[in-house]
Amino acid sequence: MKIGIDLVSFHAPAYFLDLRILAGKREVDPEKFVVGIGQERMAVVPPDQDIVTLAANAALPIVEKAGRENIELLLFATESGIDQSKAAACFCHKLLGLPSACRCLEVKEACYGATAALRLAAAMVAARPQSKALVLAADIARYDLASPGEPTQGAGAVAMLVAAHPRVLALDPEAGFHTEDIMDFWRPNYREEALVDGKYSTRMYLTTLIEAWNNYKAASSRGLPDHAHYCFHLPFTKIAYKSYARLCKADGVAEPPKEELERLVDYALRYNRQTGNTYAACVYEAFCSLLDNAPAALDDQRIGFFSYGSGCMAEFFSGVVQRGYRAHLFADQHRAQLDVRVPVTYRQYEDIFNYGVPRDGADHVFAPYRGGPFRLAGIKDHKRRYETK
Ligand code: HMG
Repeated sequence: MKIGIDLVSFHAPAYFLDLRILAGKREVDPEKFVVGIGQERMAVVPPDQDIVTLAANAALPIVEKAGRENIELLLFATESGIDQSKAAACFCHKLLGLPSACRCLEVKEACYGATAALRLAAAMVAARPQSKALVLAADIARYDLASPGEPTQGAGAVAMLVAAHPRVLALDPEAGFHTEDIMDFWRPNYREEALVDGKYSTRMYLTTLIEAWNNYKAASSRGLPDHAHYCFHLPFTKIAYKSYARLCKADGVAEPPKEELERLVDYALRYNRQTGNTYAACVYEAFCSLLDNAPAALDDQRIGFFSYGSGCMAEFFSGVVQRGYRAHLFADQHRAQLDVRVPVTYRQYEDIFNYGVPRDGADHVFAPYRGGPFRLAGIKDHKRRYETK
């Protein structure tokens, strides 16, 4: 029985900062950001959006299209948690009007969380084929102002309906994974911004890619020619090119010419270049980008996925795009959403960055900004109040 992604939807905040403006402010050559790391814009999250609203906004088109019946599991992958106890999934469960007979929980392992959630969801569906799971991944990537990580900030959310006989992607059962206890990137509970050893994290990403790839090859007997395209975890898009080059080197094959390399990895990079790092959502944002932007249909093609979470956990896995998948995409909504985003000035970016969520529990009301149907209306008695526009 095939199990996998039945529907997948992506949501980005309605504001962005052009990285050329940031480069000017930081007195850096803009080419370093645009070409050197491969990023053009970073999503900016207004005060009335958070991971809950971003994820619910991503999921709404799915539940409106597929209905809410048989969704027995709601998993929320994030490393930008809003509460140390209550799962962000519980808030989304209410906003989305899901059935009460539904397990809700939050999953964390840095950017790897959504892949863990997808695997758990697929396992539940394998055991109960009539059931469905909704996997949400949402994050807000924050580094210190003027730090090397700053141009790789971003935000966004992905929602995936996991079901038997999926309409978009059937997951292959084989996967290769690798874990190691390292401190490459982390965020202690008392900090809003991540701490990172950037160069070390990049080295570990690429090293564990090969560990996971070798384990995947051993488990599946597949190699590079078996995959039509690749979706890599994208802390910045340039890493996709470096990753594919590493896979070629590991397998002792020559790197393909530039055009072929672009065909293999580039369609998956389009959205991330506009949003920046979306942490847990990244690989699946890349998948949306590939599905929406590949000029030729991907029916029956196998896609290779690499998911990396600092700390660290790495997994290489694959899936086969299902025939007729194009009729089940939200490509027009994705494009329209990115097309109408509003640019912010450097000053507005910094003001929003420094606008901390109040911690005193007193009444607080958030002014309405642009965004999807769900918003954070305010905080009262230390409780977040969400509303539907
Ligand atoms: P940096 O020190 O600012 O940049 O840090 P750099 O000096 O390494 O330059 C970057 C690239 O730009 C280089 O290319 C330069 O040559 C090039 P490369 O040699 O690597 O191919 N460059 C230029 N190109 C064109 N014109 C120019 C120019 N100048 C330089 N004028 C770094 C970069 C990524 C380390 C930094 O942004 C950072 O710390 N980012 C945050 C951490 C990160 O993204 N790590 C990635 C792997 S870990 C991961 O993916 C997990 C994560 O998503 C979190 C999670 O799991 O939860 C982060």
